[in-house]
Amino acid sequence: MKTTKILVLGANGKTGKRVVERLQNNNKVEIRTGSRTAEIPFDWENSETWNAVLDGINTVYITFQPDLAVPSAPEIIQKFTFLATKLGVEKMVLLSGRGEKEAQVCEEIVKATAKNWTIVRASWFNQNFSESFFLEPILAGFVALPRAEALEPFTDANDIADVVTACLLNAIHNGQTYELTGPELLTFPEAVAIIAKNSNKEIQFQALSVEEYTQMLQEYQVPDDHIWLIKYLFEQVLDGRNSSVTNDIEKVLGRKPTDFSTYAKEAAKTGIWNGVNA
Ligand SMILES: NC(=O)c1ccc[n+]([C@@H]2O[C@H](COP(=O)([O-])OP(=O)(O)OC[C@H]3O[C@@H](n4cnc5c(N)ncnc54)[C@H](OP(=O)(O)O)[C@@H]3O)[C@@H](O)[C@H]2O)c1
Repeated sequence: MKTTKILVLGANGKTGKRVVERLQNNNKVEIRTGSRTAEIPFDWENSETWNAVLDGINTVYITFQPDLAVPSAPEIIQKFTFLATKLGVEKMVLLSGRGEKEAQVCEEIVKATAKNWTIVRASWFNQNFSESFFLEPILAGFVALPRAEALEPFTDANDIADVVTACLLNAIHNGQTYELTGPELLTFPEAVAIIAKNSNKEIQFQALSVEEYTQMLQEYQVPDDHIWLIKYLFEQVLDGRNSSVTNDIEKVLGRKPTDFSTYAKEAAKTGIWNGVNA
């Protein structure tokens, strides 16, 4: 018999799809996938889609788009979480960004509005290099980024999904805020070099200033609000505030987090950096 109905938002995204995979193995859980293309569609930008997707749901995994730090996020999160609680949602697990002061406004809204909550603050995902914005430059063999000297504890989306799944299923995690990091600090050039080694591919790295980078994005006609977010992440979140590791993954899962080389080895096996599935 099914006992918990869990709504996973961003169910096709980097952590959401992995959370869905993990919950599928649990016969006490019924999953509803939150996506603009799901049978019951969900769109952050259209609040008319929210009622139907929340109907009958006990627990929600919230991954916001594009980022909790954008100026419109608090109002949307307030409206969504208020509705969810009104419709009977008992627990919310929020994916937040580590070191994002603006995102903490949304964390506080969830804490004030949800009956039970867990906040999962993550560092930059490893999978940004294989399933997101860094994939294209890696395929082109040329990565140009600012903050080349910044040390970031890149975190594996599989570890995040394991932690989120535990938080969704176990009340022991209620009222906790976890900060997830990988086990080591790496710069962007170091991460790219590990990928180059594992994929047997030559990848050049060029260090840019934040201004040069945003100018490049403008030339590629990236929308202004995306440029704002990217600038915010590089300028503020990569200013050194996140250059430390935590042991929260081990605390929740009882095992060490995945290191970047292991991630790179596994991702390279799929052929993603050599154009397979790209
Ligand atoms: N990436 C990182 O390194 C990182 C680090 C820390 C925190 N975070 C946080 O994690 C969250 C997810 O970020 P992500 O960039 O990694 O994306 P992601 O989880 O990979 O999610 C991408 C998905 O978002 C869905 N989406 C896009 N616009 C939507 C909308 N208007 N309404 C509903 N769903 C929409 C799309 O699904 P459909 O097309 O199926 O609708 C898409 O598959 C963000 O809040 C971000 O701040 C990310």
